[in-house]
Formats: sequence, C-alpha cells, structure tokens
Amino acid sequence: MTVRRVLVATRNAGKLHELRPLLAEAGFEAIDLASAGIPETAAEAELEAHDSFEANALAKARYFAGLARGLPVLADDSGLSVRGLAGAPGVHSKRWSGRPELVGRALDQANNETLLRALSGLADDRASYVCAAAWVGDGHELVRTGEVHGRVVASGRGAEGFGYDPHFWSEELGQTFGESTREAKARVSHRARAVRALLEALAARPASGAATMGGWEPPPGPGKGGGG
Ligand code: IMP
Repeated sequence: MTVRRVLVATRNAGKLHELRPLLAEAGFEAIDLASAGIPETAAEAELEAHDSFEANALAKARYFAGLARGLPVLADDSGLSVRGLAGAPGVHSKRWSGRPELVGRALDQANNETLLRALSGLADDRASYVCAAAWVGDGHELVRTGEVHGRVVASGRGAEGFGYDPHFWSEELGQTFGESTREAKARVSHRARAVRALLEALAARPASGAATMGGWEPPPGPGKGGGG
C-alpha cells in the first residue's frame, strides 16, 4: 500500500494520539503541525467561530491548507453534548470553563470542574460526543460526522484519553472513555466514526492532485513545537 502524507490540523495532543493510528489503518502518515513547521498564531483561535462542528472543522482545514505546501489537510472539530443542558457545551466544549489562557491537562481539568458544577441537580444525564472531520486537498473538500452515545457521570473514572473522557460513560463499551484503552475508544468513538466515514468517502473519489502523493518533505530546522 502506498503511504500518503496528510497534515493533521490540531494542537491537541490527545486528538493527535487518536488520529495517527486511525489514519495509519487507511494508509496515511500523519504529519503534525509542529513537524510541518507551522507555528501557532492568534488567528487559529478565531477559526472555531461557527455554530456547527462541520463549519468549524472545514474552517480549520481550509486555513491550514493555505499553509500546508501541497499536503492535504485533515481537521476535526468535536465536543460533548449533554441532553439535560440543552446540548451544551457543544461547539463551546473546548472553552466551556472560560479560561482561554489554559491549555492541555490544565484546560481539561478546568472544563471538567465546569461540567461537575453543571451536573449537580441535572435531570437528564444522557450525552453524546460529536465530531466533524474535514478534508481539504487533492481538489476535494469533504466533511463527515460521527457520534457516540452515553451518559455523563459525576465520579470521574480512569486516566486514559483526554478532555471530558473520565466523565463520559460509553453505552457501547460499558465504561468511561477514561477507563478505555485507545483501541477500545477507537472502536466506537465519534472521532473514529467521523474519520473512517471521511476516508471512505475520499477513497470513493479519484484523487486529482499529484502533490500529495509523496513530494512533500519536512521543513529544514528543528521542527519542534507544542501540540498541546
Ligand atoms: P476543539 O474540537 O478543538 O474545539 O475541541 C474539542 C473539545 O471538546 C476538547 O477540547 C475537549 O474538551 C472536548 N472533546 C472533544 N472530543 C473529545 C474526546 O474524544 N474526549 C474528551 N473530550 C473531547
């Protein structure tokens, strides 16, 4: 199988950790933003300004396609939707805590504290994770979504995954995503479902760009960076 490279447009280490094997199983090598020499800018924070996961994912993919020097780009926008909170935090999942200065584990912790406050007295704890995965490259723009259903639980369990995972109990796995191995989460997750649907749709279309088939080389220099 020819391995093709794709730029994965995320600074979230947890997402990247899940996306790499999902892409590998379809024959793609994931190039992260740091390895591609694309430093974080303030403009990125403005990309998720839309009120749908699909529009946000496409905005991210289009933006990074402009910096990708011919690589196709995959971006995802995702979040938690709680029934008893009328779908919140939804597209605001990343910044629900209102702490824009935080990143990585500190941000996850602040968001989970916000979730716990919202859960007290909640009548309906049914919840879903939703993901939109967008592809821009090879002359195609595609978006597909995926969902996984379950409940939000106040007593967080497990240290796997990232974000709200200790508090999301998956109906299909019978455990929280915090307790699930990466392989188990990848069987049912919103992200896995969206990405697999996207790659299947892509495989059904003829590629129209030769630039993505292997000509790309990493930029010179250290190429180190955050990714959190
Ligand atoms: P964004 O897609 O970068 O806007 O961020 C999505 C946010 O939703 C993350 O920062 C997490 O808080 C949450 N989220 C999305 N997917 C997951 C997941 O698989 N596990 C845990 N939290 C998630």
